[in-house]
Amino acid sequence: MKRLVVVSNRVADPRKAAAGGLAVALGDALSDSGGLWFGWSGQMIEPERGTESRLQQQRAGNVTLATIDLTQADHDAYYLGYSNGVLWPVFHNRLDLADFDHGDINSYRRVNRLFAQHLATLLRPDDVIWIHDYHLIPLAAELRALGCEQRIGFFLHTPLPSAVVMAAIPQHEWLMRSLFAYDLIGLQTQTDLGHFAHYVRNEARAEQRENDVFTAFGRTVRAQAFPIGIDVDEFIRLGEGREAQTTYANMRDQFASKRLLVGVDRLDYSKGLPQRLRAFQRLLHDYPENRGRAVLIQVAAPSRESVSAYSDLRHELEGLSGAINGEFGELDWMPVRYINRSMARKRLPGLYRASSVALVTPLCDGMNLVAKEFVAAQDPANPGVLILSRFAGAAEQMTEALLVNPHDQLVVAEATQRALNMPLAERQARHASLLEGIRRDDVHAWRKQFLQTLESKDV
Ligand code: UDP
Ligand code: G6P
Repeated sequence: MKRLVVVSNRVADPRKAAAGGLAVALGDALSDSGGLWFGWSGQMIEPERGTESRLQQQRAGNVTLATIDLTQADHDAYYLGYSNGVLWPVFHNRLDLADFDHGDINSYRRVNRLFAQHLATLLRPDDVIWIHDYHLIPLAAELRALGCEQRIGFFLHTPLPSAVVMAAIPQHEWLMRSLFAYDLIGLQTQTDLGHFAHYVRNEARAEQRENDVFTAFGRTVRAQAFPIGIDVDEFIRLGEGREAQTTYANMRDQFASKRLLVGVDRLDYSKGLPQRLRAFQRLLHDYPENRGRAVLIQVAAPSRESVSAYSDLRHELEGLSGAINGEFGELDWMPVRYINRSMARKRLPGLYRASSVALVTPLCDGMNLVAKEFVAAQDPANPGVLILSRFAGAAEQMTEALLVNPHDQLVVAEATQRALNMPLAERQARHASLLEGIRRDDVHAWRKQFLQTLESKDV
């Protein structure tokens, strides 16, 4: 059997909790097959150690984790600057937040080259290499330049924006050309695939053979949608664990006479958190029967705090949740519980199960695993209702959720009222078909489909 080599900027021990969809999904996928996971250690090189990054390796079950540290300067320019100051906002349709002046393309290239140099020393001729996310778009081209001939696939966890938005990035052509060094490009949704096809046909005069095989820049690549899933059984087992059970019992006792609504997100501007809080405020205004009863628990896990858009958002959310509590709160009821810390994944199934409604209302999201976890955690006999943004990748599959436009407060408030009052039979029917869907398209199916396509050498 060929060895699987996974590469991503963020690497996490698959046996431990990690916030962020990529680390969670790759941990689940790799622990199936074993292999090597290579990326950034999450640490900076101590200044007294100079600038040379050393490769560190450790075993984590059947997975070898191989990581390098980055210099502070590379971290700032490659991770904060270009990856999260240019690519992340543009890929999430936020041109207004993109810092094209300071996003340093040269550092982005240099760190990708550094990754390639370290990784090349670990590779075997028959490895299958799977590279992930926007931090590492040019990595295959760097590996090819070092003589790597293995099959290399790429999966983008974020959305791919439309061609006009993509074209706002000064280096858009170089980025798209870099993608053609891969054998297979995986995107989350049909919408993303449509954006890719439109871009390469119009901007790069690509020829399209079959549905998903494109020739441009002198190379041929297959591009397909592979919607990422969760490990449903593992998540259900997590729900049977002590931490989840205790969380569930605490929530149930503490909020016995209340109705819980839940949101769990990294504190990111793509997640639509201010809009969500305002929609909840609108619910309390327009449907006064919820006053004294409805409680929104919003977990907002800190993320990329040294990027200014993230600290601005944090202040906005603190202000908004305080304002809603000030306007409506009573001695015995506070409508918003805002938690600006990450919650251990082991506890999440308990929180989800105790909640009547999940508000998953990003303005733009590659997939959104929280939506799938919420469904997996429900009691099928008495399930909660998922309210899902039509702009989350998950909406292409999870059509039995209440789909909403997250920008429209009225619509989100109405959907929340409907969810809180939905008859049991309708909740059960919606939940059963959502559960069937997330079971069919789980993380194992995602991994198998991607790797089978990558290994079948018909391109
Ligand atoms: N997560 C977590 N604790 C938190 C917040 C999030 O463990 O406090 C996990 C969550 O369970 C999910 C992942 O982080 O598995 C978030 O993935 P998602 O696709 O929803 O969004 P992303 O963070 O990748 O944009
Ligand atoms: C999203 C991105 C991942 C990233 C994660 C957490 O899921 O697609 O690539 O790892 O957010 O963000 P961070 O910057 O902490 O790695």
